[in-house]
Amino acid sequence: METNLSIVILAAGLGTRMKSRKAKVLHHAGGLTLVEHVVNSALELTPPDRVVVVVGHQADEVKATLGATGVRFALQAEQRGTGDALSVCRGVTPDGDGMLIVLYGDCPLLSVDTLTTLIRHHRNSGAAATVITTMLDDPTGYGRAIVNDSGCVEAIVEQKVATADQQAVRQINSGIYCFEAALLWKYLAEIEPNPVSKEYYLTDIVEILNGVGYKVSALLHADSSELMGINTRIELALVDRIFRDRKVRQLMLDGVTIEKPETVIVDIPVEAGMDSVVEPFAQLLGNTTIGENCLIGSGSIIRNSQLGNGVKIAPYTVIADSRIDAGADVGPFARLRPGNHVMAGAHIGNFVELKKTVLGPKSKAGHLAYLGDSVIGAGANIGAGTITCNYDGVHKHQTKIGNSVFVGSNSTLVAPVELSDRSYIAAGSVVTASVPEGSLALGRSRQVNKEGWAKRRLALKKS
Ligand code: UD1
Ligand code: MG
Repeated sequence: METNLSIVILAAGLGTRMKSRKAKVLHHAGGLTLVEHVVNSALELTPPDRVVVVVGHQADEVKATLGATGVRFALQAEQRGTGDALSVCRGVTPDGDGMLIVLYGDCPLLSVDTLTTLIRHHRNSGAAATVITTMLDDPTGYGRAIVNDSGCVEAIVEQKVATADQQAVRQINSGIYCFEAALLWKYLAEIEPNPVSKEYYLTDIVEILNGVGYKVSALLHADSSELMGINTRIELALVDRIFRDRKVRQLMLDGVTIEKPETVIVDIPVEAGMDSVVEPFAQLLGNTTIGENCLIGSGSIIRNSQLGNGVKIAPYTVIADSRIDAGADVGPFARLRPGNHVMAGAHIGNFVELKKTVLGPKSKAGHLAYLGDSVIGAGANIGAGTITCNYDGVHKHQTKIGNSVFVGSNSTLVAPVELSDRSYIAAGSVVTASVPEGSLALGRSRQVNKEGWAKRRLALKKS
């Protein structure tokens, strides 16, 4: 952690070029919003109360997204440019001397290493400000860094106002700066609106500082991909891909087998244990953790769920907000809606749907069932076609199924209802009353066989 370092993240813009009703920094790449990536990097350098995020468009949503991080916020009510955005932090950032780093919320790939290099470079240069720049084959859209022979930046010229000569410059402004805080606050107010766009460009401060005799240093960064600012959905997709590639590579280095990794989608927060295998086209999303020796089948989508060791998820299974304990197996083609706890060694087969259900250890629901709002004990067997009728059109009700209960195929359990330990439900029953321990419930009409009926029917047809 650095002392005397504040970090401001500009995240108030709508991002017109995204063509979206959603603020740009709330778009996702690698499973996190753009602004979360930038805040996470900032928090590795300085404590949360020294990080200020400038919010404007959808300020409440941006604040909610970052709520748990403890960072501070400043409101830019009207988006009048990056210079104006920084000015609303006057008085919000801890004052005094020291360094102030400015980051743009639409530049999520930036690494902590690069920021550390920026700080070191800035300290050594003795400059009033340091700008991270990079060389691009196609610099279109970026501000161009006009650098003199001694490696200092004399000005940053925005694409919109650059002359043909300036447009030919390939060294661009990344939008990442380290300022001497006192000088920044002193000269920021001198930025005037750009005559063409009427926006206050933060980049104009470079010329202002040069004008009063201060030096602005350029840190030329070799890896330009890391500095990519997202302005369109094409760049969003590129950055998303970079995050995904990094993530699967890291998992593989940590001992997870990923088959056809280019087809697998893993969000940044996901963790997976050694010797687990992820088959092609699987998606591991949100705050998902996977134990050791698990198998995640092709096409399965697992979100915000916790899997113990040795869990097998067969192909095309969709799981959300659920916990699955060691040795359980689920799928293929199963769906776990939020709120389930599948306990150790339990088995869920094809076309089984669960919602808010506890399935006890070693219990089985092998085929075609809906189990909602249920608590099922250990060693129970839920036959094919079993349905918990948990909804009466107004309220949801619970079904309780004890240990070692056998529910025959195609049973309808009308909740609230309780099937006590070791009870049996005859196939095809409609169970509307609780079943005592160890008993057999028959909830269907008795079968009647009418002998000779077929022959009589045929005779009737012919006459
Ligand atoms: C900016 C730089 C440009 C640089 C590029 C790098 C300026 C004037 N230009 O251009 O030199 O090459 O980034 O990616 O700074 N924002 C606000 N309030 C505003 C305007 C913007 O908070 O009033 C925020 C946006 O939410 C965004 C960031 O500032 O996160 C950058 O804004 P953007 O419009 O993307 O600037 P660029 O045109 O990309
Ligand atoms: Mg941008």
